[in-house]
Amino acid sequence: MASLEGKVALITGSGKGMGRTHAELMARRGARIVVHDLDRPAAEEAAEALRALGGDPVLAISDISDAAATAEAIRAAEAEAGPIDILVNNAGIAGGDNPMEKIDEAAYDRMFDIHVKGAFFATKAVLPGMKARGGGKIVNIASVEGMGAVGDRAHYCGAKGALMALTKCWALEFAPWKICVNCVAPGWVLTPMVFALTTEESRKAHAEKEIPLGRYADPEEVSALVAFLCSAEADFITGQTVSPNGGQVIVGI
Ligand SMILES: NC(=O)c1ccc[n+]([C@@H]2O[C@H](COP(=O)([O-])OP(=O)(O)OC[C@H]3O[C@@H](n4cnc5c(N)ncnc54)[C@H](O)[C@@H]3O)[C@@H](O)[C@H]2O)c1
Repeated sequence: MASLEGKVALITGSGKGMGRTHAELMARRGARIVVHDLDRPAAEEAAEALRALGGDPVLAISDISDAAATAEAIRAAEAEAGPIDILVNNAGIAGGDNPMEKIDEAAYDRMFDIHVKGAFFATKAVLPGMKARGGGKIVNIASVEGMGAVGDRAHYCGAKGALMALTKCWALEFAPWKICVNCVAPGWVLTPMVFALTTEESRKAHAEKEIPLGRYADPEEVSALVAFLCSAEADFITGQTVSPNGGQVIVGI
């Protein structure tokens, strides 16, 4: 098992969904968690669950799209927990069913501000500390929808594709400091985001038709990959996108 003993891990959007299961698995593996979210009650509930696991989490509350507020929340969390060793850029919103005609400027801005600007400036906030200590792990959470094509949410797919491009640039730029940057691009995962968009019936029909393994993922299955990429066992892996998607997207190299 990939130990994270002694590490401080900041997971954006970890109040609910996959971010929360990433936090719980990393805490079980020894990391001290900074629970970041826009939703304070959700973050407090997640922190309570981490305490029940024996952890000592720290809260960081901000809208990830607000670069200054996020940098300040990260600075305050580092003062309490110590410097961030691991950053998971996870906070996100759904793309919905939105053909181009329905995506106005505000919806476009919100999508890119949360996924791309949010990850960009959270990374910028933790970078000086990682460089100073000569190491760190950054995982960007994209989606299969940034790898292929979906007909009715170009703003979501474009933002996730941008995260894959940033992953490659940052992996190259930060390699001299032994900071590894990777991307996890999940297929369909059973989180509150997906429960809000689907029914049991629609999930079953979709999975049977489009996902070779015939089901959606449990969030813990994605967390196992994220925790591995954040561990010393993945020290030679950087600049990569790994997609746990049940075979929904299979590409050659
Ligand atoms: N669920 C899926 O099938 C799936 C598939 C591929 C990728 N993803 C991506 O995985 C990530 C997590 O998704 P999820 O399904 O767990 O979503 P979720 O909606 O269940 O949880 C998202 C969390 O992010 C927080 N958040 C949202 N906007 C924020 C903001 N502006 N600032 C700070 N926090 C914010 C929410 O409060 C929530 O706690 C997202 O980036 C999503 O795009 C999800």
